Amino acid sequence: MNDTNALSNCRLAFIGCGVMAEAIIAGLLRKQLVTPEQIVGSHPRSARRQEIHAKYGIEMFEDNREAALAVQPSGPDTGSVLVLSVKPQRLLRVLQELKGSIHQDQLVVSIVAGARMETIADELLHAAVVRTMPNTPAQIGEGVTAWTPSAAVNETQEQQVRAMLDALGKAVRVENERQIDMATALSATGPTYIFLVMEALIDAGVHMGFSRHVAQELVHQMILGATLFARESHKHPAELRNMVTSPGGTSAEAIYQMEKGSLRTVLSKAVWAAYQRAESLGERK
Ligand SMILES: NC(=O)c1ccc[n+]([C@@H]2O[C@H](COP(=O)([O-])OP(=O)(O)OC[C@H]3O[C@@H](n4cnc5c(N)ncnc54)[C@H](OP(=O)(O)O)[C@@H]3O)[C@@H](O)[C@H]2O)c1
Repeated sequence: MNDTNALSNCRLAFIGCGVMAEAIIAGLLRKQLVTPEQIVGSHPRSARRQEIHAKYGIEMFEDNREAALAVQPSGPDTGSVLVLSVKPQRLLRVLQELKGSIHQDQLVVSIVAGARMETIADELLHAAVVRTMPNTPAQIGEGVTAWTPSAAVNETQEQQVRAMLDALGKAVRVENERQIDMATALSATGPTYIFLVMEALIDAGVHMGFSRHVAQELVHQMILGATLFARESHKHPAELRNMVTSPGGTSAEAIYQMEKGSLRTVLSKAVWAAYQRAESLGERK
């Protein structure tokens, strides 16, 4: 195991071991940031507890409180992170269960969409809370997660959060919870925009006469390559677009149709609508 990482003296408990918790656990172990002995999880279903234990060798509990208590700090140099990874509609009940079981030096990290830090802190009577917003590609270690800490989170705990979120891909610290809602609309909801574009392009390929299989292969690699190229070239997207738009060529023709169809405005309105939705969902919790 890598001894220089921020999680080397840290224990972690995952409350609710579903898809996203499993992605973090798998990433942490794959990157050898922790050993299985440093992680515990909780889940109400015995079959799921057995599955996670068999796959990752971590201790599993039925009772959420027992999982939280199992990773309590054992000394001043040990860290402890409690990850809330249940669905939003289950969160309140889980917080009520956990109330009184959180050690003062534990850090609570929430990946629950829409749940405000104030709500979590008030319910748990615990001030050190980090709110995160991952996205679906986190499941293969290629996600991007926006995160923000409450005022009570110390520098060591921030490093632990960074190390943990790096296991999901890239972690970006944002300034406040409003920006978490903004990231919800942009990067967390974002894959669905790209999936829709992907689907439309594959269908366009099929419309021209490609088999679905070939159209899919061309589109997947094109989107991946364009993204990597844009990132590595450090050029503005408009500059990259101009580089491949020759006078009277295919790109010019296609871009004319996209502008005529207001693609830019549609995307902007979609992101804004998602942001407003994220804000209103948060207000109720
Ligand atoms: N998936 C994503 O791409 C994504 C992206 C951003 C944020 N998130 C957030 O991440 C959180 C988890 O999402 P997910 O996709 O991992 O959902 P998920 O697969 O449904 O995981 C939640 C798990 O919690 C279990 N559970 C239910 N009640 C519980 C309880 N009382 N105590 C402990 N565990 C309980 C569920 O069990 P059952 O299976 O039996 O119901 C389920 O396995 C959500 O709050 C979501 O908003 C997810």
